Amino acid sequence: MSGGTQWIVMGVLLMGLGVCGLENGLARTPPMGWLAWQRFRCNTDCVNDPHNCISELLFMQMADILVNQGYRDLGYDMISLDDCWLSRERDALGRLQPDPFRFPSGIAALSDYMHKRGLKFGIYEDYGNFTCAGYPGILGHLQTDADTFADWGVDYVKLDGCYSHPVDMDQGYPLFGFYLNQTLRPMVYSCSWPVYQTYSGMTPNYTSIINTCNLWRNFDDIQDSWESVQRIIDYYGDNQDDIVPNAGPGHWNDPDMLIIGNFGLSYEQSKSQMAMWAIFAAPLLMSVDLRTIRPEYKAILQNRAVIEVNQDPLGIQGKRIYKDKGIEIWARPITPVFQGHYSYGVAFLNRRTDGTPSEVSVTLREIGLSYHGGYAITDLFDSVHYGTVLPDKRFKVDVNPSGVVLVRCEVVKTTGFGGGRPQLIEPAPQSSIRPPFQNHLFNQFGQQRLF
Ligand SMILES: *[C@@H]1O[C@H](CO)[C@@H](O)[C@H](O)[C@H]1NC(C)=O
Ligand SMILES: *[C@@H]1O[C@H](CO)[C@@H](O)[C@H](O)[C@H]1NC(C)=O
Ligand SMILES: *[C@@H]1O[C@H](CO)[C@@H](O)[C@H](O)[C@H]1NC(C)=O
Repeated sequence: MSGGTQWIVMGVLLMGLGVCGLENGLARTPPMGWLAWQRFRCNTDCVNDPHNCISELLFMQMADILVNQGYRDLGYDMISLDDCWLSRERDALGRLQPDPFRFPSGIAALSDYMHKRGLKFGIYEDYGNFTCAGYPGILGHLQTDADTFADWGVDYVKLDGCYSHPVDMDQGYPLFGFYLNQTLRPMVYSCSWPVYQTYSGMTPNYTSIINTCNLWRNFDDIQDSWESVQRIIDYYGDNQDDIVPNAGPGHWNDPDMLIIGNFGLSYEQSKSQMAMWAIFAAPLLMSVDLRTIRPEYKAILQNRAVIEVNQDPLGIQGKRIYKDKGIEIWARPITPVFQGHYSYGVAFLNRRTDGTPSEVSVTLREIGLSYHGGYAITDLFDSVHYGTVLPDKRFKVDVNPSGVVLVRCEVVKTTGFGGGRPQLIEPAPQSSIRPPFQNHLFNQFGQQRLF
């Protein structure tokens, strides 16, 4: 085995071992589903806007569409409330209750509605005195609220961080996690802990975070614009050495919702968000009106091949390996792994605005794909098959402005030299650790033709 191969194998081991997080058996791949916030916000006006207000009807309609239009079967199997579902007051026993006008059937019934359709049910609360929109927060009621969620059949809890002191979160988020665990009901735990701490100037303790949460928000709320998507992409790239190692089965970085199909992204930009969220091993939480989404955007959200990269069982988050003149290359190690070599999802992202596609040309070896047998390359949006490409052969893609080319580079299983039988090298416990992309990719980069 060459030195390079050993490094790659150790990279595999790192992912199995180096980071061990919360083990509640949940979120082995990034959660997928539908979350109300980005598209429907805090619209509580069911009198004047009954079809778009935060009400049980909205969530039931979205659930029906997940089931009837194929989303659930592709993995989008969760419907989640966000802020503004609550009544302004707790009940006489101090328990949370939904707004009685907008959720007349109650939360247990809504949860049941989801379960009957093979869906999971998510809820929103806040580790503070109030939620961000000013409804009751969980401070002073942690155990009661965890128990209430379990009683209601909740499967997923998003816990925001408004109206709290970020310094208290190091104790508060684990404590609420403890109460969730004590209910004995498995509930995915989504935290906003690191983002609030970062904004207050603290350095989040990711050791503690990954042992407490199944996913966590690192950065800004997404807004309905390409600018917002780009800011998130930049944050993940610029902070990847701190962020990427924390991702893995059961514990994920959450760059926030998919805004595909809304008002702010073009078709190309929508593919870019979908591709980048696949590279990020990000939760795929759609926040869009599924009743009116245009077919071409629905097709992006339902792109099975891209979802497969997102949901890859190794759970290794990808990294930015090249960035210059508005062109970025991102790569994520995925299965299958053969003789210690990963396959990869590779995204070529064009951030330029000159109105013609940019040609990007690299050899696979330059982006760290060096297996001698080569890689079978498929374009995941255009179903172009490039066939088998050897590591030193030049590979070219044309990337549209603010668009992406996402390819799957699957390691080609060869019988190897000397007629030996092929052997899949399984990750096995070992202590030495090397992340992927140790080689000097920046310096070795090949030609990039832009005009
Ligand atoms: C929450 O409310 C309590 C009681 O009014 C108060 O003592 C505490 O400081 C508040 N916490 C925050 C984070 O505002
Ligand atoms: C509670 O925590 C233990 C120990 O981490 C874990 O094995 C178990 O699955 C958790 N149970 C629930 C319901 O989260
Ligand atoms: C981070 O959290 C871990 C686990 O809770 C703890 O052992 C460690 O001391 C914390 N690190 C810092 C710098 O506070």
